[in-house]
Amino acid sequence: MNCQVKQRALITEATDVLVLEGYEDVRTWPKAYQELDNALGGQLRELRTNGEFSGKNQQTVLIHTRGAVPARRILLVGLGKETEITLDRIRQAMGTASKKVRQTGAQRCSAPVIGSTALKSLPSVIAQAMVEGTMLGGYRFNHYRSDNGEPSNDIRSLTLLTMNATQVKAIKAGLRLGEASAAATSFARDLCNHPANVMTPSRVVQEAKRMAKDLKVKLTVLEQEDQERLGMGGLLGVSRGSQESPKFIILEYLRGKKKEAPIVLVGKTVTFDSGGISLKPSENMEQMKADMTGGADVLGAVRAAAQLRLPLNLVGILPVTENMPGGRATKPGDILRMLNGKTVEVLNTDAEGRLILADGLAYAARLNPACVVDIATLTGACIIALGQFAIGMLGNDDKLKAEFTQAGRQAGERVWEMPLWDEYFEQLNSDVADMRNIGGRGGGMITAAMFLSKFVGTCPWVHLDIASTDWSASERPYLSKGPTAIGTRLLVQFLINRSGKPGK
Ligand code: BES
Ligand code: ZN
Ligand code: ZN
Repeated sequence: MNCQVKQRALITEATDVLVLEGYEDVRTWPKAYQELDNALGGQLRELRTNGEFSGKNQQTVLIHTRGAVPARRILLVGLGKETEITLDRIRQAMGTASKKVRQTGAQRCSAPVIGSTALKSLPSVIAQAMVEGTMLGGYRFNHYRSDNGEPSNDIRSLTLLTMNATQVKAIKAGLRLGEASAAATSFARDLCNHPANVMTPSRVVQEAKRMAKDLKVKLTVLEQEDQERLGMGGLLGVSRGSQESPKFIILEYLRGKKKEAPIVLVGKTVTFDSGGISLKPSENMEQMKADMTGGADVLGAVRAAAQLRLPLNLVGILPVTENMPGGRATKPGDILRMLNGKTVEVLNTDAEGRLILADGLAYAARLNPACVVDIATLTGACIIALGQFAIGMLGNDDKLKAEFTQAGRQAGERVWEMPLWDEYFEQLNSDVADMRNIGGRGGGMITAAMFLSKFVGTCPWVHLDIASTDWSASERPYLSKGPTAIGTRLLVQFLINRSGKPGK
């Protein structure tokens, strides 16, 4: 989708669909709409007074202008009450509008930048949210469908309109951030949507290579022999049951100051999690193709950072493997030695994410990082604790956690903190090794994070458990059904904030 900003009155805008957002508790249209409404013979006012358009969240009304103005159609979309307005409401409204526009078969749409006195966000930030909502609301994955009965067009262009010349530059900056973060999310969604027989570990490497080449990011792949030489017992142990060899991908995007310590992102990339010998039940097992969401998010975040040329030193790390129950698979009771020398008694082969992350985090800790962030579809316990709408967050550094709370609010990918107290480690004590890989029934999200904490050393670290949010059971305004690639925009927003380059 091509996004742009124009300084232009609504009445002169020629487009397929002009999207106008309206509040529920502000019954009059903004002044800027007056001229347009006059040309339409007062239709906008009438729809308000007769209650056909109430402005309720996500309500839509389509009007054909029949030559009265250059825009061929007008789509009214409700934002809900202005007193309750949030950036996420804006994303939702634009996501809903985006699907409607597509249904009309239109390819170009325009929308004035939403104004609000209640929402204390800059026009740049609002523009970013509008672009994200439109691009992500229109996301579809039709790669394997010959005919799906829907119109095949996608929206080609979105034009944001403003009357205020002084805002054009800021809106453009926000629009660029939105474009990059939404494109990164669509890219990550695609990776997770491809089935596991296609998106194998070697295919993930191919995709990472293509991205790295396009964006001039340095890419290194440690193959199985390298992993053996280094002693990555976690990654090797998980991959033993699979015919696919494990990969360890390192992406380096270094555009910060020369000696500045890097931000390191580590993403769980299990291209399919069958559970291994501790086999999962077959119900919903197909969803485990998305057990690579953490890795996809990290690829997406590096991609967006490079596209936006953020002045940062950033390293992305992806331990990539399948978790399968082959004849040589790791068995309950087996002991693995991880990259940092610690030994782990594997009591359940389905708790594999933490095993591969242990090597990823130990590798990250060696890079003298400014901070380490890992993101993973790690535990079913996260779903039990938080349901569908919050990402689990645990970590050892209050400042870093506060940064993620803030980025989560901005991105509408909100995190919720869980405790990480030493006492929880008791549940991981092993009789035969340094620790075991499961901690029993209570606090499963916490014991998983506790396990990870033993591999990061002392650097500031945050762990994000996205098992609750990586898969959407239904289509939502800007979340597609199935893989959501949640976390991509959270990471991108965190990086934007860190780089001190918000859309000013
Ligand atoms: N990938 C799963 C976690 C998961 C479950 C993600 C459902 C998304 C939806 C993870 O590898 C796993 O199987 N965890 C186990 C750990 C347990 C054996 C300690 C779990 O949570 O059941
Ligand atoms: Zn598992
Ligand atoms: Zn898993």
